Amino acid sequence: MSFFQWKDSMSVGIDEIDKQHMHLVSLIDDLYNAMSQGQGQNELDRIFQELFDYTKTHFFTEEKHMFVHQYPGYEEHKQEHEKFVEKIKSYKETFDAGDQKAAVKVANFLKDWLTNHIMKTDQQYGPYLRERMNR
Ligand code: FEO
Repeated sequence: MSFFQWKDSMSVGIDEIDKQHMHLVSLIDDLYNAMSQGQGQNELDRIFQELFDYTKTHFFTEEKHMFVHQYPGYEEHKQEHEKFVEKIKSYKETFDAGDQKAAVKVANFLKDWLTNHIMKTDQQYGPYLRERMNR
């Protein structure tokens, strides 16, 4: 069963970034699927590892393009990324300390990130970067 699927409306129009976002959507879907089978907590170690890898690669990619092309919202956008990393680190700490609700908390946080960051904040740089990257 699929809880989250990539939709064209999530696209920022830059292939490299869309592919990275697709990976996150599939990771969120994995977590919801695991939770629906009562396996959310068991999947969390892998999810955390993938999220840390994801943030390194993906945030670096976006920030590099925004910086190089002098995107006006660069600083604020970067701050949202930093908050994401801090939040995931703190969920990992509470999970390691035995928080039985960690999977639910991470799942809610990622759903919110998809709705409010990927589908809103990321969308804002789309036209700006597309225009400059294609020059
Ligand atoms: Fe796709 Fe700004 O994270």
